[in-house]
Amino acid sequence: MAYSDKVIDHYENPRNVGTLDKGDASVGTGMVGAPACGDVMKLQIKVNAAGVIEDAKFKTYGCGSAIASSSLLTEWVKGKTLAEAGEIKNTQIAEELALPPVKIHCSVLAEDAIKAAIADYQGKQNDNNQNAQSA
Ligand code: FES
Ligand code: FES
Repeated sequence: MAYSDKVIDHYENPRNVGTLDKGDASVGTGMVGAPACGDVMKLQIKVNAAGVIEDAKFKTYGCGSAIASSSLLTEWVKGKTLAEAGEIKNTQIAEELALPPVKIHCSVLAEDAIKAAIADYQGKQNDNNQNAQSA
């Protein structure tokens, strides 16, 4: 099975590989695994006061399609609001990268990862509000 040119491009030149400070209240971290193959993807977003994602980083231990999916996703979410980023569907990623059916779950991993990162960020804001109220 051949990878598409776009997968190979993202695999060879992954965008936004790295880590953001997990302890930073403006950072959301999503860590998800694919039951189908055991691959793991970590995706982090940094959100500004206006609720816009200003930075995104990923680390993926997985196949070329998973790496390409997360690399593409970090490019897509930068500059988006949390609501916009939460609407990204794995099918859009799979279509952009021309993933074959057996690699669709790799793009699902990316969708799950951004949703988990958003949820983590929002959970942190709620914690802060509660702390503020009880203080
Ligand atoms: Fe996960 Fe492809 S099976 S690397
Ligand atoms: Fe499992 Fe790609 S994430 S084969």
